[in-house]
Amino acid sequence: MGNGILVIGSANVDLVVKLDKIPNPGETIGDGQFHQFCGGKGANQAVAAARSGQNVVFAGLVGDDAYGDAVIENLKAASIDTQYLHKEKEAHTGIALISVSSSGENAISIAPGANKKLGIKRIDQLESVIASASLALLQLEIPFETCVRVIELAGQHGTRVMLNPAPSDRRATELIGSTDLLVVNEHEAYDISGLPTESDAEIALAAEWLFDRGAKHVIVTLGSRGVFLKDEIRSEFLPTFEVEAVDTTGAGDAFCGTLACEFSRTDSIEEGIKYALAASAISVTRLGAQEALPTRKEVHAFLAEYSR
Ligand code: RIB
Repeated sequence: MGNGILVIGSANVDLVVKLDKIPNPGETIGDGQFHQFCGGKGANQAVAAARSGQNVVFAGLVGDDAYGDAVIENLKAASIDTQYLHKEKEAHTGIALISVSSSGENAISIAPGANKKLGIKRIDQLESVIASASLALLQLEIPFETCVRVIELAGQHGTRVMLNPAPSDRRATELIGSTDLLVVNEHEAYDISGLPTESDAEIALAAEWLFDRGAKHVIVTLGSRGVFLKDEIRSEFLPTFEVEAVDTTGAGDAFCGTLACEFSRTDSIEEGIKYALAASAISVTRLGAQEALPTRKEVHAFLAEYSR
């Protein structure tokens, strides 16, 4: 795969209802509009990197059903190498039920199905692919032990690792020391470090805690406030672009996938973050996670517009 990115992760179908507001427990709200998109944090991040021009290989599992076919077709349409995306006979394709409010907020329920069957055996079969990738990109929607094995093999072959420990899992502390890039939101930073992340000073301390555990670059994403970056030379807040949010689902995936792409391409964390902030800002102005991901041309046009 040359110097491309290997994403090992989840692939879902997102069943989305756009409503005025997200229902409370026990509440029913009618008048929603239904949309079906391809999703899953792994697949979203893979598509984000591919639309920005990277060679991407995606490894994962879908069910042997029509949703699985839709996921595979969608990844192929983004020019992603899907030879290691298999169909699992014993499980359904991962499904996410997503409510999106008029202000762009969401509530997500996931039935992971095949994603949770991605075991260590499959990873061992991928050793040469891991070895030849320039970067392995991981999230936590597949079994934790599977991620551990990917990171072990990446370490043995000198392949860089980017980890987005979402949904958060305290055990992620075990993995931090082997990551080149760690991207967390403030909730994940809190869950993993155990430190509060409400004020700016607290966010900086939590990022420092994560950095001290061995991640080379720690990035805490803060939604409309941008990100906090902590590494050997920087400890700073970087603002994002102001946009009108339609749907924030997958904004973190847009950020991670495009950061992986730009960081691998340029080796510059600042360039990567600037590009990724623009990509995720564009993504929140559109409905859907994967559907909303911009192309490289769109990101450059957006950056040119903002630099005027
Ligand atoms: O990050 C957004 C993604 O989370 C959605 O696409 C959904 O499938 C869940 O995995």
